[in-house]
Amino acid sequence: MKRLFKNIKELLQVRTTPLSVVSGSDMNVLPTIKNAYLIVDKGRIKDFGSMKDCPTDWQHEVVDAEGKIMLPSWCDSHTHIVYTGNRENEFVDRINGLSYQEIAKNGGGILNSAKQLEKVSEEQLYEESKSRLEEVIRQGTGAIEIKSGYGLTVEAELKMLRVIRQLKNNYKLPIKATFLGAHALPVDYKNNKQGYIKLLVDKILPVIAKEQLAEYIDVFCEKGYFSTKDTAMLLEAGQKHGLIPKIHVNQFNAIGGVQVGVKYNALSVDHLEVVRLEDIEALKNTSTIPVALPNCSHFIDIPFTPVRALIDAGLSVALASDYNPGSAPSGNMNQVVALGCIKMKMTPEEAINAATLNGAYAMGLEKEVGSITVGKRANLILTKEINSYPYLFYAFGTNHIDSVYINGEKQNE
Ligand code: NIG
Ligand code: FE
Repeated sequence: MKRLFKNIKELLQVRTTPLSVVSGSDMNVLPTIKNAYLIVDKGRIKDFGSMKDCPTDWQHEVVDAEGKIMLPSWCDSHTHIVYTGNRENEFVDRINGLSYQEIAKNGGGILNSAKQLEKVSEEQLYEESKSRLEEVIRQGTGAIEIKSGYGLTVEAELKMLRVIRQLKNNYKLPIKATFLGAHALPVDYKNNKQGYIKLLVDKILPVIAKEQLAEYIDVFCEKGYFSTKDTAMLLEAGQKHGLIPKIHVNQFNAIGGVQVGVKYNALSVDHLEVVRLEDIEALKNTSTIPVALPNCSHFIDIPFTPVRALIDAGLSVALASDYNPGSAPSGNMNQVVALGCIKMKMTPEEAINAATLNGAYAMGLEKEVGSITVGKRANLILTKEINSYPYLFYAFGTNHIDSVYINGEKQNE
């Protein structure tokens, strides 16, 4: 299917020379073309440019985008959208004064979701997860990473990963799978952490490798969850099976997770609500990208990642939703980017770079998505008629999306 978009008010994130990631002050640069056209052919971006160079003899479908802005789809590099049930009771408990950690200590939190997930069939889990995936696609997500981690038994972790595989098979956007067996210590292993780690390494990882169920390995490196030593052991075991590290660090405490991530060449270190100078230093001149998750900070009312300090130190930053039932029950990347601007003082240019190109990098998809570049997938957002792109995040509660395209095909009618 060939399609020409013409009269685009402004085409954002135009990169004629392919670029894998943007860092530091470059994050504040967002190349655009005003009054542009874009051609899609066989699901890919075929050509684009200024309207003065737009083909005049076009014989195929035309979309007149007068007054509308076009940008690459959001690249959401950190989600937990495969889950069942909800945790609104914990939400009310928090309003009444309990902290996220206190709820977890009382058997709520991740263990609450694991208890619910154990009981549902793979089919039901797929149905619930697919409606969340469809929801975020409508909201403009065009590439996504999904984690396991609410199983915490051999059967339930594999059930989650098989659901992710089914989503990969049935949906056209790129999906990456992450094994997060080390998300919390299950009740049966309450006093036997080493036994649980052994189960993950000896019983689950070999199956994941054999069935190719995941690309990444994640660990919740945090006080009361998994130590830096546990994390190192798990990352090493994952790497032996070909999995690349991508880990949860520094959410409540800085315990050296960033350094372990860097040591094991993690693709990303995510959360970072608590950041020390030495963590910033450790990330300099590495290929590990910090990922901020403002929906989580907003929802459970913890500090926002000091993104300004990271960017000002020359690092690259990605933004992701963390969509999950406990700390971020929303996968709306428009809101994530708006929070990046409002709460973390990112410029609209920085926030868009963080949620497109850098998000793609944080899940190894920078050659496929994340910018308007010839040959990349035509995963695109076309906005309603708006005055300028900062308006997208300024008017933060409004849906500004007119239509979304995956591989050049319109997703919403
Ligand atoms: O990224 N912090 C660890 N994991 C998830 C939340 C898990 C949950 O509360 O269900 C996160 O925030
Ligand atoms: Fe998470």
